[in-house]
Amino acid sequence: MSTHPDSASRAQTTLTSLAEQKAERRPIVMVTAYDYPSAQIADAAGVDIVLVGDSGAMTVLGYDSTVPITVEEMLVLTAAARRGLTTPLLVADLPFGSYELSDEQAVATAQRFVKTTGCDAVKIERGGTTVDRARAIVAAGIPVMGHVGLTPQTAVSIGGYRSQGRTADEALGVCRSALALQDAGCFAVVFEAIPSDVTDAVMPRMQIPVIGIGAGSGTDGQVLVFHDLLGIYDGRPAKFVKQYADLRRAMIAGVSAYAEDVRSGGYPKEEHAYAMPPEESARLKELLDREP
Ligand code: KIV
Repeated sequence: MSTHPDSASRAQTTLTSLAEQKAERRPIVMVTAYDYPSAQIADAAGVDIVLVGDSGAMTVLGYDSTVPITVEEMLVLTAAARRGLTTPLLVADLPFGSYELSDEQAVATAQRFVKTTGCDAVKIERGGTTVDRARAIVAAGIPVMGHVGLTPQTAVSIGGYRSQGRTADEALGVCRSALALQDAGCFAVVFEAIPSDVTDAVMPRMQIPVIGIGAGSGTDGQVLVFHDLLGIYDGRPAKFVKQYADLRRAMIAGVSAYAEDVRSGGYPKEEHAYAMPPEESARLKELLDREP
């Protein structure tokens, strides 16, 4: 596969380079990936951060929410993505139920991800007790990305897949969570589905990079789900999704053309077949004729 023109010279994304990007107001580009080819594509496109999001529960495993995905499933997806990456920072989502119980559980799960997949950092959702879990994982030497606003793992308890922080009181809660995650040592935080006004109000207090998804243009960077931006996923896209390609249509057209070709005898042709020396072919026929 051809790579991004700058890939040979592109520097590795590090926590330091992300902080520099924020300071220099150079937007940070993050995208999700869930396997070797999607990671290779994100890498070739020159993104800064690849997130193996638990959105993979829905986009690649077919669950109806992010809740059911297991640690084992996330480990497989993350390890595959790792093999497709060169320069982007690799962040893995810790799945629902794998970190909330105690600091010990959170550290053990984060360590398992780093040791078995080679990811650089982990992401966990919400404020509240998650702030303590973030502090514990950071203290264990593993970088943590926070995630506030619409937190899909707890969508039921926050009123569903809807934007958060639409009243001043609710928005203050989102801002407090972001600031607490910053104080806990997170290197970055995702703001998902909150009004731009909330982002703009809290950004002057955010010293760590903020990556937005449906949080307006005032953040330090943006993240989109791979399948949403490429038009692969067959669901109703969220308001904040901008679709940059229609790959689902192109993929269906490709597979349909293949099916049609097989059915009509258009594939395979001679150029797709392996040849055998004529004398070997003749001998094979003789040998087969002698077979019982
Ligand atoms: O799981 C995911 O894809 C995410 C992003 C939307 C930030 O958490």
